[in-house]
Amino acid sequence: MLIPSPKWLRGDDIAASEITPRHVFESRRRLMMMAAAGAAGATLSPWFMRRAHAAQAHGAKLAAKLNQAYAISEKPTPYDDVTTYNNFYEFGTDKSDPARYAGTLRTRPWQVSVEGLVKQPKVYDIDELLKLAPLEERVYRMRCVEGWSMVIPWIGYSLSELIKRVEPQPGAKFVQFITLADKKQMPGIGSPVLDWPYSEGLRMDEAMHPLALLTFGLYGEVLPNQNGAPVRMVLPWKYGFKSAKSIVKIRFVDKQPPTSWNLAAANEYGFYSNVNPDVDHPRWSQATERRIGEDKGSGGFAALFAPKRKTLPFNGYGQQVASLYAGMDLKKNF
Ligand code: MTE
Repeated sequence: MLIPSPKWLRGDDIAASEITPRHVFESRRRLMMMAAAGAAGATLSPWFMRRAHAAQAHGAKLAAKLNQAYAISEKPTPYDDVTTYNNFYEFGTDKSDPARYAGTLRTRPWQVSVEGLVKQPKVYDIDELLKLAPLEERVYRMRCVEGWSMVIPWIGYSLSELIKRVEPQPGAKFVQFITLADKKQMPGIGSPVLDWPYSEGLRMDEAMHPLALLTFGLYGEVLPNQNGAPVRMVLPWKYGFKSAKSIVKIRFVDKQPPTSWNLAAANEYGFYSNVNPDVDHPRWSQATERRIGEDKGSGGFAALFAPKRKTLPFNGYGQQVASLYAGMDLKKNF
């Protein structure tokens, strides 16, 4: 997922010819890492070289009732993997950076502004938002665009609960999620890898789908900072980057909103980004994935030695969500 940002390519202070484009540098580095490990694979993070992580400290308990409708038989990914193998570029681009640096994120006080084309715009205090609807535990399969996956017991409620309360106007066709971008708390904001703040979006019918989870916790506890505290989206049928972390604004708009990864590389990261084994990323196949934590006894080589599993259309949630895309060309609208 590491790619040059538009700013980097523009090379505001450096001539483009004087720098190695970041993606070239990154893919060279990745190749070197893979060669060092004596294995092949397209999407591995250098993090695998030093997975010997400390057990993660646990957060405050967050009570929620398991919703059986979303229970799956696959084994949840161990807590320590869920909380140390992360993408949260505001804290750095290495998989281990969020766990290492997100301690500086202050999650109270925190407000979320729900605004734009709604009849009842409102700035919610996070503790009010948390109590807006009964919290449920839902075990979701998560698939990152980089080729790894996890199974995570999240805690939250359907985003539709919030949407109903703010009463979208007829002109509201999309929902945009804007996340915190504070240089003082987030060391990665200084890097031009993405245009900050991180922004994501959904079509209104996607946002209203019961699977779309406004998420406050995982594994029976409040979200660890590195997983997007105090509130994030979780969209299990889409690649992980659609699930924005540490949200401060939810905006209802009439046009498809700009989204960070699409702005950075439109040919690689589409607006929809539904998990689709038939549409390859331009630089790697999406047909298979490796489940983090399934690398039994490998001494900590995270994604590298986990067996490959077939990636399922819509990440296995096709029965629930495929109808949202009826009649659409999903190769074009990737
Ligand atoms: N949200 C913000 N604000 N910043 C990010 O860098 N990374 C995304 C997504 N949400 C990201 C973000 C990506 S690429 C993925 S795969 C998921 O968060 C990872 O979530 P996890 O670390 O909890 O597994």
